[in-house]
Amino acid sequence: MLDNLAPQAPDALLALIKLYAADDRADKIDLGVGVYRTDDGATPVFRSIKQAETRLVAEQESKGYLGPEGDMGFVRALMPYVFGGDGDMGGRVEGMQTPGGTGACRLAFALAQKAGVKRVLMGVPSWPNHAQILADLGLEVVSFPHARADGGADIDALLSALAAAGEGDAVLIHGCCHNPTGVDYSAADWAAIAAALADSPVLPIVDFAYHGLGFGLEEDAAGMRALLAAVPEALVAYSCDKNFGVYRDRVGAFYVKSDTAGHLPVAMSNAAALARANWSMPPDHGGAAIRLILSDEAMTAEWLAELDSMRQRLRWVRERLAAADNKVPGLDLAPLANQSGMFAMLALDKDQIQRLRDQHGVYMAGSGRINVAGLTAGNIDKFIAALADVTA
Ligand code: LMR
Repeated sequence: MLDNLAPQAPDALLALIKLYAADDRADKIDLGVGVYRTDDGATPVFRSIKQAETRLVAEQESKGYLGPEGDMGFVRALMPYVFGGDGDMGGRVEGMQTPGGTGACRLAFALAQKAGVKRVLMGVPSWPNHAQILADLGLEVVSFPHARADGGADIDALLSALAAAGEGDAVLIHGCCHNPTGVDYSAADWAAIAAALADSPVLPIVDFAYHGLGFGLEEDAAGMRALLAAVPEALVAYSCDKNFGVYRDRVGAFYVKSDTAGHLPVAMSNAAALARANWSMPPDHGGAAIRLILSDEAMTAEWLAELDSMRQRLRWVRERLAAADNKVPGLDLAPLANQSGMFAMLALDKDQIQRLRDQHGVYMAGSGRINVAGLTAGNIDKFIAALADVTA
């Protein structure tokens, strides 16, 4: 029977981790998978997480099952940060824990499909796993360009796609820090999206995986909140893997927003059934640690300070790259200063990306996406020189 299986290539992004590890050049640069790095190139466990984990080990009395919704204390503690105010938009939001942002996306798409969605409108490029999950579920993708050549978001392309869409369609929107382009919608764009979706049958699905890594927790959520306030129903896939640095612990949450009384419990019962069939219940450890942080003022303050310093460092790298615009005439680096989050797309071709790897030890996704967090005071000049070399 196993003869029937065709071999699959490893996920191209995750494969970079191994390729980079196998390179023994001391000055190699990892701009591949999206993990934050300090200016020393490290990805340390947050101090707030360490404190919470210490408390968890001391205080946790049982590892008995929780249920498909996971740790609801964690899910609810997060809500004021995501949705503002008391966190539930006046009883209109409910959620559950998921295995990372990927689990949350999977659940959002699967629930949308169960509710009748057949096609998902998606700006491209997008995080490659979006297309993989949609293909696995058998949902059709309707793509439109996400960004314009001048480095801004192509709001007209999104609005045209929405105008041509109807019953049975959903639209996937990145809440902030667009992966892979770093190009986010402006406040005016969000208002236009909200107006277009307010009376539309198209279901908004927001992937919110980099909250706080752009301009701040409130600033990064403002556009999504304006959208959610305008539409009768929406789904949100949230990840804590980046903003709490708990990548391998797989900490995410899935939220449903609905204005119709009675829809939330039914939607959540369906989400719970899907979760049970997919992974039964999410891993507990990271969510429990985050619940402890968010229920303690001192640990919350520590986390917010850690998030601030991540964001400031990402801004510093962006500004340094934008300032090097004239040193790399072949590339338009200036827009990176106004873009957001961990990622940026460089207009490099396959050959240039291969030469960066072979000749300069610089590892980035084959799409030309870089993780800007991989650049530090110690390697950024070498990177800029390498870019200048391959684009000369
Ligand atoms: C990335 O895009 O690098 C991250 O979201 C990690 C992942 O799972 O792909």
